[in-house]
Amino acid sequence: MTAMLELDGVSRRFEKKLDGVERFARRLGADLKETCVNAVDSASFSIARGEVVGLVGESGCGKSTLGRMVAGLLPVSDGTIRFEGTDVTDAKSAQARDKRLRIQMIFQDPMSSLNPRMKVADIVGEAAVYHGLTTRAGVTGYVDALLAKVGLDPAFAHRYPHQMSGGQRQRIGIARALAVQPEFLICDESIAALDVSIQAQVINLFQDLRRELDLTYLFISHDLGVVEHIADRVVVMYLGRVVEIAPTEALFDAPRHPYTQALLDQVPRLGAGRQTFRTVKGEIPSPLNPPPGCHFHPRCPMAGPRCSREVPRTISQGGHTTACHLHDGGTA
Ligand SMILES: Nc1ncnc2c1ncn2[C@@H]1O[C@H](COP(=O)(O)OP(=O)(O)OP(=O)(O)O)[C@@H](O)[C@H]1O
Ligand code: SF4
Ligand SMILES: [Mg+2]
Repeated sequence: MTAMLELDGVSRRFEKKLDGVERFARRLGADLKETCVNAVDSASFSIARGEVVGLVGESGCGKSTLGRMVAGLLPVSDGTIRFEGTDVTDAKSAQARDKRLRIQMIFQDPMSSLNPRMKVADIVGEAAVYHGLTTRAGVTGYVDALLAKVGLDPAFAHRYPHQMSGGQRQRIGIARALAVQPEFLICDESIAALDVSIQAQVINLFQDLRRELDLTYLFISHDLGVVEHIADRVVVMYLGRVVEIAPTEALFDAPRHPYTQALLDQVPRLGAGRQTFRTVKGEIPSPLNPPPGCHFHPRCPMAGPRCSREVPRTISQGGHTTACHLHDGGTA
């Protein structure tokens, strides 16, 4: 399989400087330091054309930050992102900018990601005209065709976002992303805000579009049931680090990393209920001060002496990747 998207050691740090009051308090003796969060810490994996890759992990583990870096909405601190062989990390060249346009992101809350003062026709058509994918004269037909593609009547072109339901707004968000003819979509909790019945419709739409337009997805979701349904492979993150990558069936049938095992233990596997995971036993440590060695060691039932001292190496065996000492020499 040739990679469409390749991440090599991609990291993102957020530094929080002290404000004036805090600097003053520090001068008076308060124990205040500038802080840094490693929101994404050296992520390396690739995605093949046509694949759907799920990205899961507890809140704050860096999923959105990773997605935003891939979409070019957030600069990386370190590492390289390649798309179809072109380095798009900084998107400085025209070729890299053109490639970047092929990657689009669909957000959780369509209401806040759509301009409330713009009509659908402009929301969907604006970028296509700007990038020369249609002309001013042809934009009405272009938008109508996109609305049809996402299952909406052309009459929606004259509406404003507040005149539509959540599901319709999310379809507009999808049409807007499709307007620039992307090949790769990052869906960041794109169905989480919708009613359960509408979620199923939007998932079906994603699957239809995948077939019709030969799309590739990075699908970020809290809902493991949805990920199991839609993804070919799954990437699991914990406190900024990728801890396991595996084909969906292998991951759900036989997760190898203790964190993934704990995550899946929380999910009722029988019955038709929703499969949103709750938090794994134990507190999520502060990302400002993550535990040394393997970040998971304070919560890990398998932790041994190496775990608090050494960062686990990433080991791949038969398409299944884990970062855990148990899989690197056999003892933790
Ligand atoms: N703009 C920012 N400035 C400072 N810190 C940030 C910023 N964006 C994210 N972070 C921090 O980076 C870490 C990862 O956040 P991120 O939003 O990527 O997590 P997530 O996995 O998407 O979480 P959720 O499931 O809640 O959406 C968190 O500790 C978060 O507080
Ligand atoms: S490295 Fe150690 S603490 Fe981390 S998951 Fe493996 S056994 Fe648990
Ligand atoms: Mg997020």
